[in-house]
Amino acid sequence: MEFVRNAWYVAGWSSEIDQELRRFTILNEHIVMYRKADGTVAALEDRCPHRLLPLSKGRRIGDDIQCGYHGMTFDCDGKCVRIPGQNNLPASAYVDAFPVEERHDIVWIWMGDKDKADPSEIFSIPEFDDPAWTAHQGDALHLKSHYLNVAENLVDPAHVSFVHPTTLGNASSENVPVHVSTEGKAIVAWRWIRDSEPIGFFKTFGGFTENVDRWHYYYLYTPCTAVIDFGSAPARDNIAEDERNKGNRIFALHFMTPVTDSYTIDRWMHLRNTALEDETASDSIDAMFRIAFQEDKEVLEAIQLEEDRPAKRRPIRIAIDKGPMVYRKRINDMIERERTHDVASNTTPAFVYHD
Ligand code: FES
Ligand SMILES: [Fe+2]
Repeated sequence: MEFVRNAWYVAGWSSEIDQELRRFTILNEHIVMYRKADGTVAALEDRCPHRLLPLSKGRRIGDDIQCGYHGMTFDCDGKCVRIPGQNNLPASAYVDAFPVEERHDIVWIWMGDKDKADPSEIFSIPEFDDPAWTAHQGDALHLKSHYLNVAENLVDPAHVSFVHPTTLGNASSENVPVHVSTEGKAIVAWRWIRDSEPIGFFKTFGGFTENVDRWHYYYLYTPCTAVIDFGSAPARDNIAEDERNKGNRIFALHFMTPVTDSYTIDRWMHLRNTALEDETASDSIDAMFRIAFQEDKEVLEAIQLEEDRPAKRRPIRIAIDKGPMVYRKRINDMIERERTHDVASNTTPAFVYHD
């Protein structure tokens, strides 16, 4: 299975990375990450070029890593700076180094061509520092599921009525159609459920007892970031679609990191425009999300087990699948573009002529 490589992925929460050498697996690659003396994060291929011992099994010498087998030492750019017992350092003695950027307590890593890494393309979260909003980091949810299935679950408002009946959905949304549109890099699937009973989430957190207007906007940004904008406002206020800030509004952010072909980590956090700085509210939102995401995990892992078995026929598509279908098409196109570009820019001739 191929991945989009020219993209920023979340490598971890800032709190997951410290002075210790730690191994992370991202897009099937083993990477050792650690904090340098200046506090910034280094990310290197976790495999010594000599006998392939993972560098994470070695030890740090200042900002360098010394391999635990024969002591070859690499700096944080991946360059070999020492080979015990010899003076020359061959050009092949290096490990790959990955560009890393840290912001909003999140560590991002670039997995593709280094010269294409542009930090201005990292997903921006303007509400993070906005006093009208409160940001709160949640968990890292481990899923034995392919990331495309995880992602399509995040552009799929229709499942909440059935998978999350106590928190994010209820029966009143079962038959409300889903609209799908695209906005730049985002695929947006959304719907409003007007004048109906509040869902469990907003009974507990928002304290709504009377009927509300509720919205779900699922923004899925290729390749691996999703923002779910959902909220409720009293039905009697009859707010317009672009007046969502008047209601209790929450953004659930999901950063998916494909680990292997059948394993994904979904790091989630949330932002809200109400109950600002209220730690109890953060805890109660966390608790409800943990219930809901556990329900998603069960569904997604059961699907993966079926996908791994021999297929009898192709899965069918139904009306609510538009968002997931656009997403998969875009991902395929991105992978295809990277592949074609690689061929076009490859200056090595396909044939080698011997004289
Ligand atoms: S395996 Fe790393 S120095 Fe030999
Ligand atoms: Fe869900």
